[in-house]
Amino acid sequence: MIFDQLNRPIHDLRISVIDRCNFRCRYCMPEEEYSKNYTFLKRTDWLSFAEIIRLTKIFVSLGVSKVRLTGGEPLLRPNLDQLIRSLNEIPGIDDIALTTNGLLLAEQAQKLHAAGLHRLTVSLDTLDEKIFAQMNGGRGEVKHILAAIQAAEKAGFDSVKINTVVQKGVNDHTLLGMVDYFRGTPHVIRFIEYMDVGNCNHWDMTSVVPSAEILQMISRKYPLKELAPHYDGEVAERYTFADGKGEVGFVSSVTQPFCASCSRARISTDGKIFTCLFAGTGTDLRTPLRNGASDDELQNIIVTVWKKREDRYSEERSSFLTSHKNSHKVEMFQIGG
Ligand code: GTP
Ligand code: 5AD
Ligand code: SF4
Ligand code: SF4
Repeated sequence: MIFDQLNRPIHDLRISVIDRCNFRCRYCMPEEEYSKNYTFLKRTDWLSFAEIIRLTKIFVSLGVSKVRLTGGEPLLRPNLDQLIRSLNEIPGIDDIALTTNGLLLAEQAQKLHAAGLHRLTVSLDTLDEKIFAQMNGGRGEVKHILAAIQAAEKAGFDSVKINTVVQKGVNDHTLLGMVDYFRGTPHVIRFIEYMDVGNCNHWDMTSVVPSAEILQMISRKYPLKELAPHYDGEVAERYTFADGKGEVGFVSSVTQPFCASCSRARISTDGKIFTCLFAGTGTDLRTPLRNGASDDELQNIIVTVWKKREDRYSEERSSFLTSHKNSHKVEMFQIGG
């Protein structure tokens, strides 16, 4: 086990497997900035599966037991099931999850489940087709994503998590409709406060709906009871419907930051380790990896990075915003959220 400057261990590894996406969500990759002219990473820049596996084993030796695959859109990475299969064979990994926008999920769900993927999160911000198109840049339709969730169920994912980013005046009036739809199913919607990740979403506090308001709104129709976290440092706060008809969650990193228990390391598609979602730079692991570094040498780099870590961006957000420190941040699609 290793600990950072704030005594936080390293426990979760979030691996971005591709920086491309088939959506253009306005809060992440707005079309005007990421049009056909934008140059994404070349294939040779991507960590290979063998490189990901080698690094993951080193992270496991330092305390990691949970892995989440992210993107961009991870299902655009060819043969992802092969990576999942190999991750599953690493002793010490006891949880493999994936966050997807769902567009390619219907066709891949079975293969992913068979490869040993345990948990699935699908992003879906609204059930209103028009608002959905407006939010994701006009790619895909709600009905495809709902069909993909059904396909995932059929493939054996008993409970899918639904990530819903809430933006004031954009989709907040459609949230109860989502609760109506998913209530009574095993799937769990998590309402996520819109965050100031990256450099191009023109975030400001007036677009954030505090989770407490959404909680109140839902409770007026369906009384809720708070649940204990599944594990220490769980990102979402969990609530059950008082009548037992399922669960909802809230990810409130703006109004109730959870940096104190943040044990997440992120690796970008090109093999940099980032110690915070809001970091400006990462530390390159790919160059030493490709230059023949031994496992011990790679482990030393990671240990040095983690021991120096003192990130707590969400807790310090207001001072960053006024001082314009961290003015350049990594983009969400480069490290997968
Ligand atoms: P499990 O609890 O393992 O299911 O994972 P999770 O809830 O962390 O999963 P997910 O990746 O779906 O995260 C939900 C939302 O929380 C996403 O929008 C993430 O970007 C956000 N999030 C996850 N980790 C962090 C974090 O360390 N800091 C901040 N600020 N946001 C995070
Ligand atoms: N604020 C909050 N959540 C975001 N996501 C992407 N960008 C933002 C943002 N600016 C969410 C995606 C996905 C998860 C990985 O992060 O919708 O569900
Ligand atoms: Fe949207 Fe996720 Fe793609 Fe970003 S990476 S554009 S949040 S689907
Ligand atoms: Fe962790 Fe940074 Fe998010 Fe805080 S803001 S919870 S330190 S990733």
